[in-house]
Amino acid sequence: MKRLVIKGGKKLTGEVAVSGSKNAALPILAATILLNGESTISNIPNLLDVITILRVLKSLGIRAEYHAGGKVKIWNTGSVKHVAPYELVTKMRASFFVIGPILARKGLAKVPLPGGCAIGSRPVNIHIKGLEQLGASVRMEHGFVIVTANQLQGKRIYLDFPSVGATETIIMAATFAKGKTIIENVAREPEIIDLANFLNKAGAKVSGAGTEVIEVEGVESLHGIDYEIIPDRVEAGTLMIAAAITGGEVKVKKAIPKHVEALTRKLQDIGVSVKVDQDSILVKGNGKLKATDVKTLPYPGFPTDIQPQLSSLLAVSKGTSVVTETIFENRFMHVPELKRMGADIKIEGKSMIIHGVEKLSGAQVRVSDLRAGAALVLAGLAAEGETEIDDIDRHLIRGYENLVEKIQSLGGDIFAPTKKPALPNNS
Ligand code: EPZ
Repeated sequence: MKRLVIKGGKKLTGEVAVSGSKNAALPILAATILLNGESTISNIPNLLDVITILRVLKSLGIRAEYHAGGKVKIWNTGSVKHVAPYELVTKMRASFFVIGPILARKGLAKVPLPGGCAIGSRPVNIHIKGLEQLGASVRMEHGFVIVTANQLQGKRIYLDFPSVGATETIIMAATFAKGKTIIENVAREPEIIDLANFLNKAGAKVSGAGTEVIEVEGVESLHGIDYEIIPDRVEAGTLMIAAAITGGEVKVKKAIPKHVEALTRKLQDIGVSVKVDQDSILVKGNGKLKATDVKTLPYPGFPTDIQPQLSSLLAVSKGTSVVTETIFENRFMHVPELKRMGADIKIEGKSMIIHGVEKLSGAQVRVSDLRAGAALVLAGLAAEGETEIDDIDRHLIRGYENLVEKIQSLGGDIFAPTKKPALPNNS
């Protein structure tokens, strides 16, 4: 699917179920390196990023199969290779997550240094500092990070920033370390809790996940398990905003309301009705949207992964909104494209000043990164006329399972034309 065409103006109505969480699936699949035997992990979304991490596992000697319905079957005989392939890790930076489990298993790991991406340089210094504090020696060679350790030693570690990935790397590396590891100033995202639950079910001893301090008591080995991962809170949030921006009424099912609490509060500030129950969220847009301010923060603060999508909503919310991005240095790539659709947005340092407009107008726009793509889809759904979004294949389908079909099921006029229409012959 190269591009999407959206005819804006339709109110989305109905019910839609959220898929499994991409950002829980990736570290949990990497963690299967630590488990001996057979595991079945369910509610895994069918995404390009998931396929990539499964290819990394296979390259390490682990048998991994993706079955219809979101079940991944893993067979780990224990003979894990220690080198992760360059072309896969550079394809998806989350593959770097394998460095902790390989090191814990083998005492040696050779993983390509992941590149940056559109939203920022994405360094891994906090990951590496944590591995060194556990007793690993680290060197860089020809673009690879090479870590070695005869025996990792439990330690008290303080993270300079509550990095999600670094928290996950250090938890996985500490699983077989000698003694207790105490990690302070850790990330508190729901995906960290899901990883800890997964590891504990396999025999690990991880406590405190979801708080600022996590303790990991080293164990000898971990065994295969069956496990179901949590729903995707970023997809849930994206669908909630889709209802709000089109003035529709949508019940987002199989979501965990607590995981989208910060967004719920913001939508209510903007004047959107949001009602939650056990595992669903009912969102009703009423057309009268008012500006608000938002600042992205580590969980439970407002999530950076929903900032672009919310800015599309604020682009048509009456008044002036200030959106401040504190997590990534370059997460405003959707702004020039939104401006082509008539949005009135000015970037000032880490903030954007948004003056809400009556209506956006459809235009041809380009996607730079996963969540910017989602923001442009939402803008297209609300815009007058037709929006064509290019470069979708490289981004959107990496992180959203069947987003087009889900929006169509809610009455959205969105489709992926098979090929670009021929230019008119008088061109
Ligand atoms: C995870 O990325 C998510 N990805 C990201 O989602 C999410 O935006 C991010 O956490 C923040 O919530 C996955 O879970 C696969 P970080 P991660 O380490 O772990 C800096 C999406 O759209 N940093 O918490 O890479 C870093 O540069 C993706 O689904 C260091 O400086 O995020 C960034 O500015 C995008 N050194 C900040 O910390 C390090 O060693 C947060 O990064 C690590 C991070």
